[in-house]
Parts: sequence; C-alpha cells; structure tokens
Amino acid sequence: MKKFIVIGVGRMGSRHADNLYKKRVPGAVLSAAVDTDPAVAEAFSRKHSVPCYTDLDKCLEEIRPDAAVIAVPHYDHVPVAVKLLERGVSVLTEKPEAVEIKEAARLNAVAAAHPECLFGIVYNQRTNPCYKFAKRVAESGGLGNIKRVTLIITDWYRSQHYYDLGGWRASWSGEGGGLLINQCVHQLDVLQWLVGLPESVDAAVYTKGRDIFVENEVSVRMRYPEGAEGVFIASAHELKGTNLLEIAGDKGKLSVSKYRAKYYSFTPDEKQVNATANKGYGSARVKVRSKRYGVFRLLTDAIFGQQLRVLKGFARALNGDGAALVARGEEGIRALAFINSVYLSAYTGKKVCCPPDPAEYSECLDLMKADEAKGKKSFGNRI
Ligand SMILES: NC(=O)c1ccc[n+]([C@@H]2O[C@H](COP(=O)([O-])OP(=O)(O)OC[C@H]3O[C@@H](n4cnc5c(N)ncnc54)[C@H](O)[C@@H]3O)[C@@H](O)[C@H]2O)c1
Repeated sequence: MKKFIVIGVGRMGSRHADNLYKKRVPGAVLSAAVDTDPAVAEAFSRKHSVPCYTDLDKCLEEIRPDAAVIAVPHYDHVPVAVKLLERGVSVLTEKPEAVEIKEAARLNAVAAAHPECLFGIVYNQRTNPCYKFAKRVAESGGLGNIKRVTLIITDWYRSQHYYDLGGWRASWSGEGGGLLINQCVHQLDVLQWLVGLPESVDAAVYTKGRDIFVENEVSVRMRYPEGAEGVFIASAHELKGTNLLEIAGDKGKLSVSKYRAKYYSFTPDEKQVNATANKGYGSARVKVRSKRYGVFRLLTDAIFGQQLRVLKGFARALNGDGAALVARGEEGIRALAFINSVYLSAYTGKKVCCPPDPAEYSECLDLMKADEAKGKKSFGNRI
C-alpha cells in the first residue's frame, strides 16, 4: 500500500483526495494533504481523518509519502514537482505540466535524474474510449499517410461568472493563459498523441465578449512534417459548441466526437484510386468501425471523474504494473510546446516553429503579463 498526499485541495485536488480517502484507488492510501490556504487546510482536516498541512516541507518530513498528486495553480506545478522528485517522492501532476516549455524541460531533466520516482500527468482524456480507439487505429497504421487534421473544440463554454470567481484563473500572471492552457490542453495532448506535433503554426487568438485578459477563442493553421495540413479552432463563448476531431489519411479516416468515434477504411487506398481512375472522380470500398463511450463508463466517469482512472493507473504503476500509467509526465511538454507556439504566433503575427524557441516565448509571456498589468488586452476584444 503506497502512501499518497494531495497538494492543493481546491476544486480538483479535493476530488483526487476524495477518491483516495474513500479507498477507490487500489494500492493507495491518503496519508495527508497540503494547502497553503489555512482556511482550506482547516476545512479539509475537519472533514477528513487525515491531517492537512499548510507547509509542504513539514508534511514531507512527518509523513514521508511515496507519492504526491499536485493540484495547485499552474505556475506552482514545476517548483512543487521538482521539490518532491528531489526528495524521492513520485509525482502525479495536474495538467499543464508547466506554463512554459522552458520550465517543463527543467522538470523533465529532474525527473530523468530521479528514475526511482514515477512521474505522471493527469491527461484524463486519454482514458476516453473514443480516443483510445482512435489511438489503436493510428498505431496500427490504419490511416496511412495523413493528409489533413481538423480539430474543432467550441464546447468549452465559460460565462463571465466563471471568470469572476477570480483567483489565479484566466490571467497571464496567475494561470499563464486561458482557453488553450486550461481547457484545450486536454484535446491538444490527444491530438499530439495521435499524430505528433506540427512543425509550424500560424495562429490568431482573441478575447471576445468577456472581461478577461487571456484568450477565449483560437484559430490555428498547422503544417505537419510530412506535408499534411491541419486546422484547429476553439472557443469558450459559443452556445451549442462542437467537439470534433477528424484525421484524414490515404488509407482511412477517423471522425471522433466526445462520445463516439468512427473509423472508415478504404480499399484500395486513395493513391490507388487516383492511379486507376478512368473518370474524373473516384471511390473506394469503405468499411466502417465505430466505438461509443458506453453508458456504464459514461456514468462512472460522470460520477467519479475520468481523473479517477488516471489515479488508479498511476497507483498500479507505482505498485509494479508500469503499463497502467495513463500518461508519462515528461509528455506534458508536447501539448505545451503547441500552446506556447500558438501564443507566440498570435502575439507576433508570424508563423512560428513548433516547438518555439523557449527564450523567445519567455519574452512573449513577459510582454503579455506587462499588457495585463497595464490593463491592456493582448488579443483585443472584437465582439
Ligand atoms: N484534469 C482535469 O480535468 C482538471 C480539472 C480542473 C482543474 N485541473 C487542474 O487542477 C489544478 C488546480 O485547479 P483547481 O481548479 O482545483 O484550483 P483551485 O484554485 O480550486 O485549487 C487550488 C488549491 O491549491 C492551493 N494552493 C495554491 N498554491 C499552493 C501551493 N504552492 N501548495 C499547496 N497548495 C497551494 C490553493 O489554496 C487552492 O486551495 C490546475 O492545474 C488545473 O488546471 C484539472
């Protein structure tokens, strides 16, 4: 039985703590929590029969945990994770791995220097059966050469009320971004997991209809190393949003929504269709396979959160079943590279390499923070 602590017991951390405390995670026990807000720590201790510290060092000294779940605001992910790994404590960090790739690379180097520790990241969308199905298709070569990637995520609706809850959210100084780094990081991880990273991005980012300094709308054109093109559109201010990922290849096509995935395989493939066509158009025999989320899974995920599956996988990996780990922490840098490139491209108005130059992105982030400090919206408010 591994001793866990949860660091940051706000909205998400309290959920992780609850899952551990209520013994929903085989092989793991909640030994303590840590929250720098004394009121939160006291409320947590009153509700649970485990201590909640305000001081991480004291907790590490007294509890000597095997593992920690980090659910604190974004800028603290790296310093807290580094401290834990250097003390020999395994880490499951909430997303994003960091705010800047420079920091994620620093954390990855520390993780590499501590192979005795397990390092995971809460990329819970990877447990979505529709995305898992897509991963199997992509890995089996069922798409062939990829021609086009389309990702439309406009179902992250957030009202002004959400932003008015305040704290660290939706600011350059507190969160390091908005829609991209907080919400879309999940789907951007899935995208890179399936097709890898683009080599360049050309992006436009906006703040529309909300009194915030970070973005709530994004349009990106991606170019992939093998020549495929991609489009990524996201918004947090549209009602009846869309959630769609399409990957078109010469051997097959994937069409994945939140709760259903379809794979179309072509016989012969598109190259053959073109090579043998004696008319101006062509077609192939199309076989369709599909996958649904599944009612049982939908219900359990709705009640306990997909995050429970990530936590269970992490605990299993910690107890010897390495293959159960849902996502290695080091992989957190990949979606972050995409996100940093998009911000840099939108801010400079130029096409940007992915990953971007870490120092250039640092300067760009400083400029966006400076805009915010002056009360200026870096990406305008067009509507
Ligand atoms: N995986 C998901 O689906 C998902 C969903 C929501 C939030 N999150 C992530 O969880 C993290 C926390 O988000 P939240 O919504 O719970 O925020 P929150 O503000 O509700 O909670 C954060 C808590 O951390 C405490 N804290 C701040 N700095 C600390 C530090 N250095 N050490 C210890 N405690 C500290 C705060 O007092 C607060 O109680 C973020 O990284 C967020 O992106 C992930």
